[in-house]
Amino acid sequence: MSSIKYDEKSRTFNCGSSLGDNEVLDFCRNGYLIFENIISDDTNKKTLDYLKGISEVNPLYIPDNFTLDKLNEIRFSIEPSSILLEEWFIKGVLLNKCLTQALRSLLGKNVGLPVIVSNHRIKGMNKEQGWHHDADCIYSPEINYLEVFYYPQDTTKEMGPTEIYPGSHIGPIKYPETKLNSEETVLLELPRGSVVIHHQSVLHRRAKSNSTKERFMLKFDYWRTETPKRDWIIEKEFNFSDAFYGGHLTARYVAHMFYWLCGKGDEFKLIGGQAWPWKSKNQIGPSYGFNSKNGHLPDWNWLTEDNYSKSF
Ligand SMILES: [Fe+2]
Repeated sequence: MSSIKYDEKSRTFNCGSSLGDNEVLDFCRNGYLIFENIISDDTNKKTLDYLKGISEVNPLYIPDNFTLDKLNEIRFSIEPSSILLEEWFIKGVLLNKCLTQALRSLLGKNVGLPVIVSNHRIKGMNKEQGWHHDADCIYSPEINYLEVFYYPQDTTKEMGPTEIYPGSHIGPIKYPETKLNSEETVLLELPRGSVVIHHQSVLHRRAKSNSTKERFMLKFDYWRTETPKRDWIIEKEFNFSDAFYGGHLTARYVAHMFYWLCGKGDEFKLIGGQAWPWKSKNQIGPSYGFNSKNGHLPDWNWLTEDNYSKSF
């Protein structure tokens, strides 16, 4: 399927997948994907004009419990969800080809469009935020929704871009014992029109800012509506038994997530230690434990607590 099919009634889309097995596994390991400059300048400008109140509000429809005045009012708030009702935003951002094909790969067919948008605005001198996992995040093999950052303007280091810690979506495993250094983290200093798909549980913060230019960044979630299965691009060479799932205290979670996405969550078993899914480049034969009928599941709850207000 090359074109995007959008169902206005259910607010879901379907399209072809762009990610292969290795990219899906990379996402399970890292927890994010960056697409630079994929939204057109025209749409970026319309987005900024809308958020600043320069253009008119023109929704496709007015949802129950809203009025046109109310939609106009909320566009200046921290949750300007009225923008989701603008046809140019749906076509130009929400249904962007590059974005939707990646989301379709990870969330299956008939992906649900966002219902809430957050606008992260910052201006002037501001200290960096503390590292945190967002409210209500969950550590789980299941990927039932994905969060997206959209940058309608060039976002420089001075404008306080978001900084993320790759791989931290599987749990606050290394915290607070480990101090982060900038080689381990990714500063999302991106050109206008860029989009970042990420796991909502990833550890992140807003970096410090010292720009007179106001930064706008929109954040919204896409939703799974179908049970997971391996219906992205199958790579013939991909081998479940010797793929790289990560190191100690990581590989088991990443592999579980990948299996769940493949619709094989029920078949996942661990025997622990040096067994699959862990492996070393110096081992002289395949890891034991692959396809074991007996074994365990990783404990996703062992460090789970709501750390929303806690900074590391
Ligand atoms: Fe946050």
